Amino acid sequence: MTILVTGVAGFIGYHVAEALLARGETVIGIDDLNPYYDVGLKRARLAHLVRHDGFAFHALDIADHAALLGVGAGTKIIVHLAAQAGVRYSIDNPFAYAAANLTGHLSVLELARHVPGLTHLVYASSSSVYGAGSALPYSESARADHPQSLYAATKRADEMMSAAYSHLYGLRQTGLRFFTVYGPWGRPDMAYFGFAEAIIEGRPITLYDGGRLKRDFTYIDDIVAGVLGVIDHPPTEIGAHRLFNIGNNCAESVSDLVAVLEAELNHKAIIVNAPRPAADPVETCADIAALARLTGFSPKTQLSEGVPRFVVWYRDWRAKRG
Ligand SMILES: NC(=O)c1ccc[n+]([C@@H]2O[C@H](COP(=O)([O-])OP(=O)(O)OC[C@H]3O[C@@H](n4cnc5c(N)ncnc54)[C@H](O)[C@@H]3O)[C@@H](O)[C@H]2O)c1
Repeated sequence: MTILVTGVAGFIGYHVAEALLARGETVIGIDDLNPYYDVGLKRARLAHLVRHDGFAFHALDIADHAALLGVGAGTKIIVHLAAQAGVRYSIDNPFAYAAANLTGHLSVLELARHVPGLTHLVYASSSSVYGAGSALPYSESARADHPQSLYAATKRADEMMSAAYSHLYGLRQTGLRFFTVYGPWGRPDMAYFGFAEAIIEGRPITLYDGGRLKRDFTYIDDIVAGVLGVIDHPPTEIGAHRLFNIGNNCAESVSDLVAVLEAELNHKAIIVNAPRPAADPVETCADIAALARLTGFSPKTQLSEGVPRFVVWYRDWRAKRG
């Protein structure tokens, strides 16, 4: 089966593509390799993927609809993960989010609409859509109408655009609300990665609200299992649009994260305290019952296990990068 993966040089896209290739699927990978973070890391992920015969890569911007149409023919499933990620970056760079997450998402929807024989569009949403006022654990039935960042607003808008396209054109779609994904080959802009780097280099790290903020940290292998489970359980009805949380169902504090990092890196963190930025929620936690019912999704990795695996990879990456 041919599966098109957008954002394939990104953290989640890379791991999902590896897993799909490992089970014999053909993967068309798309990424614009933009410099939001270290392009060398994106290229290093790609270098692993191009070793597979079933992999073809196209460097393009998903918002370039003509280019996207040119490479998407013959696709059966789209896994759309390309986006401008990050909550805080949207404060200084709002238009990057409109381009990648609004125009880009629409461009992928238009591709899905025009590819004959497409059976399922799976796309990335985010836990940040829950915003202010959603009860914990976050349930897919919450209204999610108080975004706390432009990033969250664009992800919620993606869900709305997808709902409209399913209604109008009969597309089968599944949106996945990812919760703080971490692990090897992760994103340098995320806290766990930046903390590891700073702790090793003896630089201070900033903790908001004394490290009491809690996140539903979800290990990458559990995320990949969930994404493949969704691919293997497509909607049966024409025009169905589903939304699922995909998290660990266990909120842990940022202080806990720092403690595991300190133990693994054998260094004490130098901590600077700061108030919580308005874009950051106090706590996130996913109700994953719906995804578990559909696919048997059952995340297995806690921070105490996942962070050490990240650290092993990170040390190796630092050594190779020089
Ligand atoms: N990692 C997380 O914790 C997390 C949490 C919630 C949601 N998400 C969502 O999951 C998806 C994957 O996230 P990730 O952590 O792998 O991020 P990532 O930044 O590592 O991957 C995204 C990839 O998309 C590419 N990209 C961005 N804009 C593009 C464009 N216009 N055209 C083509 N390629 C483009 C980037 O170059 C990057 O390689 C994103 O949609 C993100 O918003 C991630």
